Amino acid sequence: MCGIVGYCGPKRVVPVILEGLRRLEYRGYDSAGIVYLEDDKLVKFRAEGKLANLETRIDDAIVAPAHIGLGHTRWATHGAPTEENAHPHSDCTGDLVVVHNGIIENYHSLREELKAKGHVFTSETDTEVLAHLIEEHLENDLPKAVREAVKHVEGSFALGVLWAKNPDTLVAARNQSPLVLGVSDDIGSFMASDIPALLPYTNQVIFLEDREMAVLTADSYTITSLDTGEVVDKVVQFIEWNAAMAEKAGYKHFMLKEIYEQPQAITNTLSGRINPETGEVTIPEINFTGKDLESIDRIFLVACGTSWHAALVAKYWIEKYARIPVEVDIASEFRYRNLLIDERVMTISISQSGETADTLAGIRLAKQLGSKVITICNVVGSTMTREADGTVYTHAGPEIGVASTKAFTAQLVALFLMTLYFAQQKKTITAEKSIELGRAILDISTTIDNELPRIQNQISTLIESFYDSKDFLFVGRGLSYPIALEGALKLKEISYIHAEGYASGELKHGPIALIDKDMPILALVPQDAVYQKSISNVEEIKARQGRLILIGTAGDDHLQNITDDIVYMPKVHEDMNPILYTIPAQLLSYEIATRRGCDVDQPRNLAKSVTVE
Ligand code: F6R
Repeated sequence: MCGIVGYCGPKRVVPVILEGLRRLEYRGYDSAGIVYLEDDKLVKFRAEGKLANLETRIDDAIVAPAHIGLGHTRWATHGAPTEENAHPHSDCTGDLVVVHNGIIENYHSLREELKAKGHVFTSETDTEVLAHLIEEHLENDLPKAVREAVKHVEGSFALGVLWAKNPDTLVAARNQSPLVLGVSDDIGSFMASDIPALLPYTNQVIFLEDREMAVLTADSYTITSLDTGEVVDKVVQFIEWNAAMAEKAGYKHFMLKEIYEQPQAITNTLSGRINPETGEVTIPEINFTGKDLESIDRIFLVACGTSWHAALVAKYWIEKYARIPVEVDIASEFRYRNLLIDERVMTISISQSGETADTLAGIRLAKQLGSKVITICNVVGSTMTREADGTVYTHAGPEIGVASTKAFTAQLVALFLMTLYFAQQKKTITAEKSIELGRAILDISTTIDNELPRIQNQISTLIESFYDSKDFLFVGRGLSYPIALEGALKLKEISYIHAEGYASGELKHGPIALIDKDMPILALVPQDAVYQKSISNVEEIKARQGRLILIGTAGDDHLQNITDDIVYMPKVHEDMNPILYTIPAQLLSYEIATRRGCDVDQPRNLAKSVTVE
């Protein structure tokens, strides 16, 4: 969602902000803006659409000798994505500007009150009320005015504020929307919605917590509580990611690069957590004993989108091996249903970003009800990791493509490790089984690494006959069912083809009516426990002339009696199929989307980090 970048320091501000905004593009946005202070005057540029539109307007400004400013990419919520609605927004004097991420829920009444006091509004946004509200409280102390203004605000915000009359200072504030500060010894102070914007300049970051405010100058920062005004001591964290990790490295798209990074992401996620000889798993971050686990009656897995699909796979694994009943919930549903949760329930949230508003609300609720909360997350220091009782990090590295790929397979790996860990602690699997499953997960990254180019080549040829289809079905059974859902989600988000995922056995209960010779159906048919059943379902599709594409096990010649469009996958341990079969599903979506000329890294209407409800 919206991206904020702020900088004050010795560097020229415009290139720093543009570079930061470019690195936040993955969050999704539909207009952009920048403001900087030059000769005591604020200079502001805004544009609809992509950053390139903004850049064409500010060519000369790149060299402006300005050293303090703010930038913003806006994902429209209140008001269309027009230039007038793009941030920064100004107060009546034009001397004060605000950039904002989040939603001001009581903006309508605030706007009416401010209008009655004579404030003049120039946009339809909720954000503009903040500029006027701060103006209303402004005498000569900007931090004080921000603190007073936000007392009237209901909703979520990450804010950056600049006032021409306080030319050395940026003010940042946060409530339920992410904001991170970058600090350094000699190149100034930064604020941003996410870490990649800071990486070219500094690895030292401070995560603002809810209801905290920061006052930044080129060589200092002070963080206070928005409510009490008291100074808060914060820890500076060192981020191991580097700027190059957030570059395309010769790949045409971030998504393709991230698909190819999966073997490494899997290896990193396993690293140091599993004994290759015994399969024994250690996860010091959660450290439950068998006795602790005996007191757990049920696990709730809570997530959104792709992360929810990872949860669906994990249900099969955990119930099979750790023998703990698992409920899987979409976070936006979880938070509003009557939950039967108490201290005998463990809640595990799964989130690439650690900032997804619904998932965050879900874990807060679960905690209130007495549940222990663990999060599986890829972003160090993100809100979810700070609020959970324990975090199991996936080590996928920064994921920039909006469609999640390597973060998903890394989540699967983390969930499989947790399954093994629970099963070993509860002694629901034998030592031999631990060795077998440990071997299976340790081998999967090499298998994927070896197969990726072949799978991509084969798929890029295969899609020629159906890349322009209007609809698509993905089907699978058992562990392949969530991967069918994931394949359909990937395809619809990056190619805009209408796609649905179904459990194969469910087809005859309705969706089979859709099947005719024009309907491509990708069926995942690994030789697993439900193979024969899957083949029967595929035969039902064939009998109705559906255009089948089969992803199956190498050596399964029977598939050739069904269709010519087959991608064979190496035989791996049955429990590893969801990880392996994700690869062709991702590549099929990628190849179709690029063939259709879509913007795969930044698909329309989507945001990488969904920080509003
Ligand atoms: C799809 C995708 C989304 C996210 C969802 C949850 O490719 O990326 O469906 O999975 O928005 O995001 P996180 O995992 O950050 O909570």
